[in-house]
Amino acid sequence: MMTNKSIKNICCIGAGYVGGPTMAVFADKCPDMNITVVDKDKERIKKWNDQDTGNLPVFEPGLEEIIKKVRDKNLHFSNEIEKTIENSDIIFLCVNTPVKDKGFGAGQASDLKFIESCARQVAKHSKNHTIVIEKSTLPVRTAATIRTILNSSQGDNISDSKTFSVLSNPEFLAEGTAINDLKNPDRVLIGGEDQESIEALAKIYQNWVPEEKIIRTNLWSSELSKLTANAFLAQRITSINSIAAFCENSGGDIEEVANAIGSDKRIGSKFLNAGPGFGGSCFKKDISNLVYLSEYFGLPEVAEYWNSIIKLNNWQKLRISKLIVQKLFGTLRGKSIAILGFAFKANTNDTRESPAIDICKNLLVEGANLIIHDPKVSEEQMTKNLGMKANYICNNQDSNDYESTWSKNENIYSSLSGVDAVVILTEWDIYKNLDWKKISKLMRKPAWIFDTRGLLDITKLNNTDLNFWKIGDGLEK
Ligand code: UDX
Ligand code: ADP
Repeated sequence: MMTNKSIKNICCIGAGYVGGPTMAVFADKCPDMNITVVDKDKERIKKWNDQDTGNLPVFEPGLEEIIKKVRDKNLHFSNEIEKTIENSDIIFLCVNTPVKDKGFGAGQASDLKFIESCARQVAKHSKNHTIVIEKSTLPVRTAATIRTILNSSQGDNISDSKTFSVLSNPEFLAEGTAINDLKNPDRVLIGGEDQESIEALAKIYQNWVPEEKIIRTNLWSSELSKLTANAFLAQRITSINSIAAFCENSGGDIEEVANAIGSDKRIGSKFLNAGPGFGGSCFKKDISNLVYLSEYFGLPEVAEYWNSIIKLNNWQKLRISKLIVQKLFGTLRGKSIAILGFAFKANTNDTRESPAIDICKNLLVEGANLIIHDPKVSEEQMTKNLGMKANYICNNQDSNDYESTWSKNENIYSSLSGVDAVVILTEWDIYKNLDWKKISKLMRKPAWIFDTRGLLDITKLNNTDLNFWKIGDGLEK
């Protein structure tokens, strides 16, 4: 299938959280290759090309430095999708696959419209032999769909000489640590049927990844491994969150429990931090997809098992919202609450599925005035997520008895002035060592600190008149 021509030109379709950082590291590690990241979103490409690398559309520690080094040398960002496809030997598909919002499988099945439209573009504009690689997380057997679309283009005259190999090469990077994950992956997974194409891709990775970390599988195993890895990780967080709730009621301390169970090598110590519920673009979507596929394959018990993870994750956000209201005497009318952190985790500006969105919305419904701080999330993004403009007074039409509003504040201490409560929702380092004595003087009493990430050292709050609630901490204070 493969021609012997060596791989020189790489195209990546999709300049998002996966495509951008992944291709930056590829360009850095493979100076002989010419890489172009294309996207239909002109604004996004403009930001990737901004001379001020502080304006890149994705915030990721270490990314700016690499971009400065390789951009306009062997890494390019462009809107010229067709021309780039035409000149490429390998095409990575890094487009988003949202959950379907209507029709069959709405709310569960992945919407493949972006993948399908990419496949059609590749089919139309590619020349000779092209390796097409699925990088985004996709439902199992998507490669078959891509292959069918690609192969259907071979019938027309102009494209007679076209051939394609479809590979699955899922990306396992986590946001916030993407650059390190890409430079030092636990493994690189390549699934496919055409050995020559598999080896061509493996050769690119061999520039920096040891051969023993490159795993070759069939296409379906590769697709399913990515889905399963995310489902297991999400399940692990839900498990620790459920035990955190148990601790709060029974007198245990979740950090001690996590430490004790994590020392068992079979369980392992990572990914055991209790929190406000998992967020991010992958976990909920991938589990929903697993649920949908399980039902499709006639496995309702399996579907129910995985669906319970999503249910429990929603419950975690709800129970935290409820306990904040309850500690503040059952009402938030006329009360101000400072929210520290809006991103779904630290070290990213991404808010997709962030637990902060649901929790803030719940508090707004109760009539709160929220003052939100996040070092990387813009006001524009918060507005999109909350579905309400900043400083807008929202009256309850039915009872007309409360008003709620929110604003963004860039300065942590000024955002805490006069507030009744502080809720830590993202584990940014800057929130770890705040001056709680100073904060205690700024807040209205009785004042509460809600630490949903287990970030704070309680001894730092000793000798203040602040009430303190910490996730998974059942010890009386
Ligand atoms: C995840 C997978 O980790 C990654 O391999 C895959 O490629 C994409 O999906 P990501 O969503 O970027 O990565 O971040 P991750 O670090 O997995 O965190 C997901 C969510 O779980 C975040 O909301 C995070 O705060 C939460 N989390 C994580 C916890 O609550 N506790 C933990 O111990 C770890
Ligand atoms: P991810 O986290 O998977 O990288 P993002 O939403 O951050 O997801 O990025 C996906 C990118 O793919 C977006 O910038 C979007 O504009 C782009 N995209 C989606 N469909 C196409 C397409 N058919 N052609 C080019 N770019 C596309």
